[in-house]
Amino acid sequence: MEKETRYLTFALTKGRLANKTLQLLEQVGITCEEMKDPASRKLIFVNEERKLRFFLAKGPDVPTYVEYGAADIGVVGKDTILEEGRKIYEVLDLGFGKCRMCVCGPKEAGNLLNGQELIRVATKYPRIAKDYFYNQRNQTVEIIKLNGSIELAPIVGLSEVIVDIVETGSTLRENGLVVLEEVCPLSARVVVNPVSMRMENERITQLLDALNSVITGQQQK
Ligand code: PRP
Repeated sequence: MEKETRYLTFALTKGRLANKTLQLLEQVGITCEEMKDPASRKLIFVNEERKLRFFLAKGPDVPTYVEYGAADIGVVGKDTILEEGRKIYEVLDLGFGKCRMCVCGPKEAGNLLNGQELIRVATKYPRIAKDYFYNQRNQTVEIIKLNGSIELAPIVGLSEVIVDIVETGSTLRENGLVVLEEVCPLSARVVVNPVSMRMENERITQLLDALNSVITGQQQK
């Protein structure tokens, strides 16, 4: 008797990354019409023909769903992968959602960065900031966790610098801040549950190969 194909489940990051991911999936022939309806309150969407399921989650929850195997595959920003530190495989760089993780602040804070004083670093990414300052720069700093509008911190005197995402740089410019150092480049990545990678290797590899050739084709254009 033929083995029944089980559903492969995708966890996508809500918002811009999900829209871009759906466009890319369409280019490899995977569509999910119900997901495009903005009025829908449904949480899970199915492509019966290909035996695929999709759901949307908040970025930091995507690696969690994938580590526990509640989703086989996830699409999430590299920043979130680094910050969450989950046991998942990062298998493909999708090449969109490109931005940089940077140390930023007022221009004068550049001196403090290289000085002896203990500086305060505000960030939504304490793990990334800690790794950067402690392991790469060998500098002890005080890390202050915030949940958004990080650029405010040096302006109101909560911290000397911030570690945050810079995309166009306009938030920094409008607030009189500059990039002081680059921590790492970021973009959307595909992550896979390690057990799924073994059990569903053929289907997952085929899909990754198809995505990869679309991406490589686009980059050559
Ligand atoms: C992100 C990031 C910066 C901004 C960078 O914030 O934290 O504030 O975008 O983009 P830019 O370089 O193009 O100006 P987001 O809008 O996601 O909201 P948040 O402040 O609540 O984190």
